[in-house]
Amino acid sequence: MAGGIGSRFWPKSRQSMPKQFLDILGTGKSFIRHTYERFAKMVPAENFLVVTNLKYKDLVLEHLPEIGEKQVLCEPVGRNTAPCIAYAAYTLMKQNPDAEMIVTPADHLILNEDDFRAIIAECLEFAADRGVLMTVGIKPTRPDTGYGYIQVSDSQPISKVKCFTEKPDLELAQVFLQSGEFYWNSGIFVWTVRAIVEAFEKYLPEHHSLFSGVMRAIGTEAERNVLEIAYSECRAISIDYGIMEKADNVYVRCGEFGWSDVGTWGSVYQHSRKDRYANAIPEKGCYLYDTRSSIVSLPKNKIAVISGLKEYIIVDTDDVLMICPRAEEQNIKKFIDEVKFNN
Ligand code: GDD
Ligand code: MG
Repeated sequence: MAGGIGSRFWPKSRQSMPKQFLDILGTGKSFIRHTYERFAKMVPAENFLVVTNLKYKDLVLEHLPEIGEKQVLCEPVGRNTAPCIAYAAYTLMKQNPDAEMIVTPADHLILNEDDFRAIIAECLEFAADRGVLMTVGIKPTRPDTGYGYIQVSDSQPISKVKCFTEKPDLELAQVFLQSGEFYWNSGIFVWTVRAIVEAFEKYLPEHHSLFSGVMRAIGTEAERNVLEIAYSECRAISIDYGIMEKADNVYVRCGEFGWSDVGTWGSVYQHSRKDRYANAIPEKGCYLYDTRSSIVSLPKNKIAVISGLKEYIIVDTDDVLMICPRAEEQNIKKFIDEVKFNN
């Protein structure tokens, strides 16, 4: 899934160059490249499908030269993750309904990749044997309201999900964290094509009928037209709200493998090396005085002098300057969603 606009990373992540194509942590590779390499050790290159917006097609092919043009499924508009997953699943349904499918965001960080792959292999076996929907769970460390929360029914490594709550408010997230019964949803899913198509039929019937039409049109002259109609008519909804919260055959494999979705400036701050005042080590050109627990990102050759700030995010780009208290970073996404200016 590589069609999001990474709005929580604004103003560095932009419509023209969203987060998945950036190397925000300075590793030398973009997030999408890391994601590809992580899975290329268990999935042959020809079995990858990248679902993205038409305008990112060339960027995807540039970052992943191993895959062919036909493996990039181009959405005319973004409608969140349920349509994105439907497009891939119904495309595969035509070829092989029993295929096993791993769904992954293109913008996560995973430190222990061998452990991660072992967990995915377990999920593939479990999901294929039982025809259930699987998600990978992460032990929560804070009441983060940007995640889905999964309540487990026992302490087995693979456990049936009792309840799935997408992005609870802070009060509820605190209750979940304290109960010790909840995991974060990593947003990485495993299932067979047939199982997820059945879930669409049951929980998102409109999407089911639109994307069944897409499936029938694949390879015909009408393909692009039918796809455009499907996207213009289908409701924007995430897989989490649309299916995972409602389905009764969801299982979770919890694991620890150094996961972060590096979803916000706060998470970049967490992953950064710090100076003795707990600031992310400032970039060249950034002078901090009496400033603590802050993170500053500057364009090349820019100089910033900052004094007297505590727990701030400051991101300067060629055309936008953003200043936000770390505690209010979820407002960045809200701002982008509300203002809708050409970002
Ligand atoms: N193709 C396509 N089209 N991809 C999309 C679209 C779309 O319209 N919208 C989002 N994506 C991609 C993003 O690029 C990202 O790789 C992935 O789908 C997940 O979308 P996010 O927008 O980052 O989701 P989230 O972080 O708010 O929430 C999800 O991930 C959390 C963990 O990181 C949920 O699954 C949460 O439950 C989960 O905790
Ligand atoms: Mg995310």
